[in-house]
Amino acid sequence: MTAAVGNAAPVTLWFCPNDQLAPGLANALAAQWLDEQEKESAGQFLFERDRRQYLVAHVMVRRVLSLESGIPESEAVIWRSSRGRPFLQKPAGGLPRGGRELDFNLSHAGGHNLLGVVRRHRIGVDVERLDRGKQGLAGVVHAFAPEERQWVAQAPPGRDRDVRVLRLWTLKEAYSKARGLGLGLSFDSFSFQLDEDRGVRAFRPPDDDLAQRWRFVELEPVPGVLAAVALMAGEDETPVLALHHGFPWSRSSPRTVPVPRAAPLPRAF
Ligand SMILES: CC(C)(COP(=O)(O)OP(=O)(O)OC[C@H]1O[C@@H](n2cnc3c(N)ncnc32)[C@H](O)[C@@H]1OP(=O)(O)O)[C@@H](O)C(=O)NCCC(=O)NCCS
Repeated sequence: MTAAVGNAAPVTLWFCPNDQLAPGLANALAAQWLDEQEKESAGQFLFERDRRQYLVAHVMVRRVLSLESGIPESEAVIWRSSRGRPFLQKPAGGLPRGGRELDFNLSHAGGHNLLGVVRRHRIGVDVERLDRGKQGLAGVVHAFAPEERQWVAQAPPGRDRDVRVLRLWTLKEAYSKARGLGLGLSFDSFSFQLDEDRGVRAFRPPDDDLAQRWRFVELEPVPGVLAAVALMAGEDETPVLALHHGFPWSRSSPRTVPVPRAAPLPRAF
């Protein structure tokens, strides 16, 4: 179910809008599959809309982890780091479907869920709606590196500028989530140079990391929804993403997406 080319580390992405899983079904699967901690979290939302988002996302996580690892949905043990990053606990004898390594990362926003899975290294994902209603995007720009703020300001206000902001934001979140740091990483301590349309031309990592270790992919899985993926990869690896759309009932035919290499940027430019 994962895509690989040559010596590439397999990478799978699942994009699932909430409306792909009927509310009654999401509730029923959650009752069967989620652990006590997840059920408690689901019960704490004030709004039904947020509870639904949580249930679809976490039912999807357990379904995909089961497809990938062979561990039944209700038996997967998911633990969190001190910064909140979830990990799958691997059985001592390895994963039932083979292999010992599996990393995953989840993002859910505005009725959309994105889950990335790799069998080697680390992955981080982020999905955001371009139309963020009252939340807007202006507030996040101050967190960017100076050269990124400059690039954003070069676009005319409105949709063009919002797209630039959201492209940078999703990439930064994806990288930070791959590293397990979440918002604990200062967003001006690393920066991206982006192609006009889509794609990362160059990357300057924080002082404690190397640009060569990372690959980035930008996606627009449905119009008005932007997503980014940060992947750790060896210098000699040529990963390919398999992008699945919809709830992961079975192994659907994915769309393959190439994972280009970004040039490293000098520490100061
Ligand atoms: C991770 C974080 C950036 C989420 O950003 P967001 O855009 O609001 O939300 P997303 O939907 O993209 O991602 C949320 C998911 O990321 C995952 N996640 C949570 N913390 C994470 C981390 N540190 N690294 C990677 N992934 C993380 C979870 O699966 C979470 O969903 P869940 O809680 O329903 O399981 C933000 O919540 C965060 O920074 N959390 C950590 C806070 C922190 O650093 N605390 C320090 C304690 S010392």
